[in-house]
Amino acid sequence: MFERLGYVGPLLDVRNLRTTFSSDWGQKEALDGVSFTVSPREILCIVGESGSGKSVTALSLMGLLPRNGKVLNGEAFFEGRDLLKMKERELDEIRGGDMAMIFQDAISSLNPVFTIGNQLIEAVRAHSSVGRKEAREEALGILQRVGLSEPELVLERYPYALSGGMRQRVMIAMALAGKPKLLIADEPTTALDVTIQAQIMQLLRSLCEETDLSVILITHDIGLVAQMADRVIVMYAGQVVEQSDVQVLFNSPDHPYTQGLMQAVPSIYDDKARRLVAIPGTVPEHYQDIEGCRFASRCAYKVDECDLPQVLSYVASCESQMNFPHCVRCHRAARGELPPYGADERCTPVDVVAQISQAPAAGELKNETKGDTNGRRA
Ligand SMILES: Nc1ncnc2c1ncn2[C@@H]1O[C@H](COP(=O)(O)OP(=O)(O)OP(=O)(O)O)[C@@H](O)[C@H]1O
Ligand code: SF4
Ligand SMILES: [Mg+2]
Repeated sequence: MFERLGYVGPLLDVRNLRTTFSSDWGQKEALDGVSFTVSPREILCIVGESGSGKSVTALSLMGLLPRNGKVLNGEAFFEGRDLLKMKERELDEIRGGDMAMIFQDAISSLNPVFTIGNQLIEAVRAHSSVGRKEAREEALGILQRVGLSEPELVLERYPYALSGGMRQRVMIAMALAGKPKLLIADEPTTALDVTIQAQIMQLLRSLCEETDLSVILITHDIGLVAQMADRVIVMYAGQVVEQSDVQVLFNSPDHPYTQGLMQAVPSIYDDKARRLVAIPGTVPEHYQDIEGCRFASRCAYKVDECDLPQVLSYVASCESQMNFPHCVRCHRAARGELPPYGADERCTPVDVVAQISQAPAAGELKNETKGDTNGRRA
């Protein structure tokens, strides 16, 4: 819970978010009643297949939807103020300041014709009234904080002259320039090799521990979720289908879709013996037209009752309802009617949780200095 200037509550409280896109073919619903909270210093992971609505959730909150996108409904309280009702100018102050976002593709997020120094120093000055010299000192400090140990050199470089890992660190530095309380990271490491991915993730984790930063981490990598998350929401076809704290979710994933994801998605934290099992079918394109469970066409446990609308309900066996209740959007899973996950001994939840302890520890990850495993040098 968050307490500042008399406000007590979560840092971010998203309620019933509904977003649509218009096109020549009519309205397409992308989000249907998405709700979640984020507390200070925690990492909330949003996981789901391609097209499930992860990025649209982030863009809706940041007010960065493309022209044909619109938030139809909902509230998103950031420190008690509704982001969705703010004027563009108010939102501009928050974006890049208290709330920042980093994207998967760092090279297209940096301006190629300005040096990192130009861009980072301007980012620092945009959110504080310091002079250029002081802003430069601050920029150097931030670059060091994100693990770039020759910050003077990095400041002189143009984006193309940095490796992928270094650019992604610079993007994190740009986001930190506004001293954010919340960082939304949308697949920030998908384009990077596994070593750099592990380093960037460790950096995010240590920033949460050392500062009051909270992170919404969007990913399709279930192993990364196991390593990084405090809490998890699983999205499917524009809806939250399961939410829980990370240990509970990995010990007992209850929604058939979550179980399918755990069996289907390879991760850098996998052991060699893990057998991958694909979820049959794909996310339905026009999911807004489905009245009942949106996962039904792919679910092995479907019964007639699944054709009725499904709501997010407490899992009957959930012990800790107080902090972050374990909920599923499946009447059968909520009632405990489905077989427990883990029947396949080559892919048990225990395997996945065990990988958390095998992930690289903070001390094992080196700072990036003159280059990284992508081979380029600053
Ligand atoms: N500009 C757009 N116009 C129309 N529909 C869109 C637009 N952007 C996203 N959508 C639709 O919104 C839904 C959610 O998309 P979103 O980009 O949030 O998926 P995602 O979970 O981030 O997937 P990925 O893992 O591939 O990034 C999809 O059905 C997508 O087709
Ligand atoms: S509601 Fe029915 S179809 Fe949907 S996930 Fe649950 S069992 Fe499967
Ligand atoms: Mg996306």
